[in-house]
Amino acid sequence: EAGIFTFDPGFMSTASCHSAITFIDGEKGVLLYRGYPIEQLATKASFLEVVYLLLYGELPNEKALVGFEKLVSRHTMLNENLKNFLDGFHYDAHPMSILIGVVGSLSAFYHDSLSVNEYHDREISAHRLIAKLPTIAAAAYKHSIGEPIMYPRNDLRFCANFLHMMFATPCEDYKPRLVAEKALNLLFILHADHEQNASTSTVRLAGSSGANPFACLAAGIASLWGPAHGGANEAVLDMLLEIGSVDNVPRYIEKAKDKDDPFRLMGFGHRVYKNYDPRAKIIREVCHQVLEELAEANNPLFDLAMKLEDIALNDEYFVERKLYPNVDFYSGIIYQALGIPRNMFTVMFAIARTVGWVSHWMEMMSDSNNRIGRPRQIYCGPSQRDYLPISRR
Ligand code: SDX
Repeated sequence: EAGIFTFDPGFMSTASCHSAITFIDGEKGVLLYRGYPIEQLATKASFLEVVYLLLYGELPNEKALVGFEKLVSRHTMLNENLKNFLDGFHYDAHPMSILIGVVGSLSAFYHDSLSVNEYHDREISAHRLIAKLPTIAAAAYKHSIGEPIMYPRNDLRFCANFLHMMFATPCEDYKPRLVAEKALNLLFILHADHEQNASTSTVRLAGSSGANPFACLAAGIASLWGPAHGGANEAVLDMLLEIGSVDNVPRYIEKAKDKDDPFRLMGFGHRVYKNYDPRAKIIREVCHQVLEELAEANNPLFDLAMKLEDIALNDEYFVERKLYPNVDFYSGIIYQALGIPRNMFTVMFAIARTVGWVSHWMEMMSDSNNRIGRPRQIYCGPSQRDYLPISRR
């Protein structure tokens, strides 16, 4: 049945996890958000429409969408004291470390009067997180380049507002290009949710103890940072730059097969998709259009990525293991073309995945059968033995 998943006992408690949010068929490369195919949402919906869908289970009508857009825009501003917190970070702190710290600290700013046991309070926290992540992300970027933080603007759409906070300065305004706004809208939709991935499971496990949502999301952001998960998009660009040219690709393909060498072809493989990741297929098509419109048609990194994909998908090691490009393989190339620096790529993933994290948290907290998660283990340590005095050790 769609949506009924049983965790393997080695990871979570033996109870299965029921979720009605996202359905994946790894063999067929199918991804549905509340029953809607990702291919349709990615090209037809706005990101906030998809946010509403993931949160509430239905696409909004015109009135509901306008109201939701207003509601989110009103929560985009940060408590002014957070600027002092941000100023405390070293200038070259990785933006993901700032995101973990600041999101976790929102517990102190916005959770004192809220209860995780009241649906309306949970909803307020969810809206605040969705609205404030872009503001915190852009602030982390501005901090890293020594520029003043830009305030959000309520007259701009979600993606345009983020781009404005990233690239405008008090001395010079910035009008986001429509092609950039549309590319971001699509990338955010594709990264919005993905059922029980590592970071979402982290949020659910943390939330199952009754911890507040801001602390739970800080844990989810920490899990996403790893190069095996959301950190892969940054690692893909590093890898492409290291490979440098198509001539070097065969050597790196051979390195990826070397059992003793930890090198992995970043952006390839997936725990669930044993066919092409449907998101990668969509991003690959859009990548070309975006680069053309941004006058980067001959982007050498994109050419190298396509050549690498072509060679890998004809190599028996990858074919046997069904290692196809995943969502992270092409996304970084678009982010870079939009002027977003590599150390912000995983932050972009976190902005989008916030709606997935809070939707799963809301779903879990509304479930009257929700109990604290308690993963079990297979014990492989020494059998019982007696203490020895130090003189006999
Ligand atoms: C995301 O879970 C989600 O839904 C995650 C995500 C989401 O939206 O939340 O989709 C986002 O995290 C996508 C994945 C991004 N990570 C990367 O691109 C990093 C590179 N890929 C891998 O490290 C790896 O493929 C994983 C972590 C994604 C999956 O790891 P697994 O589960 O160990 O992979 P597997 O079991 O399918 O591996 C099968 C074989 C193994 O070799 P053998 O032991 O059989 O000899 O393939 C090998 C692996 O060593 N392998 C790779 C490889 N990925 C797997 N070999 C070379 N390069 C790779 N990228």
